[in-house]
Amino acid sequence: FEVDWDTASAEKGGFASFMDKEIHDQPQAVADTLLGRLDTEGRLTLDEMHIDENVLKSVDKIVVIACGTAAYAGQVAKYAIEHWCRIPTEVELAHEFRYRDPVVTEKTLVVAISQSGETMDTIMAVRHARQQGAKVIAICNTFGSTIPRESDAALYTHAGPEIAVASTKAFLSQVVACYLLGLYLAQLRGNKFRDEIGTILGELQSIPAKIQHILDETKSQVLALADRNQDVGSVLFLGRHVGYPVAMEGALKLKELAYIHAEGFAAGELKHGPIALIDDGQLVIIVVPSKRGRDSLHAKVISNIQEVRARGANTVVIAEEGDEEVDQFASEVIYVPETTTLMAPLLTTLPLQIFAMELATAKGLDVDQPRNLAKSVTVE
Ligand code: AGP
Repeated sequence: FEVDWDTASAEKGGFASFMDKEIHDQPQAVADTLLGRLDTEGRLTLDEMHIDENVLKSVDKIVVIACGTAAYAGQVAKYAIEHWCRIPTEVELAHEFRYRDPVVTEKTLVVAISQSGETMDTIMAVRHARQQGAKVIAICNTFGSTIPRESDAALYTHAGPEIAVASTKAFLSQVVACYLLGLYLAQLRGNKFRDEIGTILGELQSIPAKIQHILDETKSQVLALADRNQDVGSVLFLGRHVGYPVAMEGALKLKELAYIHAEGFAAGELKHGPIALIDDGQLVIIVVPSKRGRDSLHAKVISNIQEVRARGANTVVIAEEGDEEVDQFASEVIYVPETTTLMAPLLTTLPLQIFAMELATAKGLDVDQPRNLAKSVTVE
């Protein structure tokens, strides 16, 4: 997908950059990824699932293979797929997968996530998996690209062309597509979540409007936060459960857009080493789970915030609207609409994307074509 950068400005839809446009495309990207996959009764209909139902029923392991942001989408999806399908689900970096002599059989379902469909690391991993007898489903944003062509089935994310090198709308639609796959397998295998699928799909359908709410209500707050932190030297991102891969994705966005050292940690890992990094004024961004979810998670993340704050951290918290408890421990709280624990990444990722973009912009950097990066890494 070659971009003519001279004429491309017309396609920015009035936004200053493709990155900004694509962040704002996200409500539509999620809605379009859902379109045509739910019947009038709200049941799942994945017509493109050309893998024999009996093969899918016999799957005893799922291996997600991807790189970068796509791998973080897989990390988020792992929590949901295991919860709904009760199938052991691993997420493997594609470039590591085939060199570790992985255990792959004809009962392994490989899910290859790739926006471009041309990432050579992922292509080679798909080929290795198929040689071992696995069935491969591609989750891809580029019709007719190599990875879906070499897979047994393709579940396309309908995010539209993603021009900016740093992925945003593709990430959210990859998570949505993985969720649809997980729910499809739960529906097919008839396990205990079968009856909850309609409710879960209903919450998924509410997400585009909630994303739009974040774009409308929090962008100026995040812009001011970025402006105040444009000289920051390093940023730590913390999260638990599905908030952990969101923390890693937020760190990756800041690295690739603002060229700032950033690291995403599982919040529970703090006391096992990383807390030594905390000194006075260290910016720490924490993704807080819903209070309505598994209650112990919320309380544990609150105590993680207290731990870093006690050592002088500047704590910026991403929390659910109505969560008053976080206020006392945060230098700043960015609220996102309520949703379920598993749907939260589709909302909590937004402020992190905007923060990285605005900080890079404040530093005068090119947010569409960051240095050293290519939109698709077509070499191993
Ligand atoms: C995304 O922000 C990065 N530019 C990069 O990590 C990307 O996600 C990765 O290279 C995978 O690309 P793909 O989705 O096209 O396979």
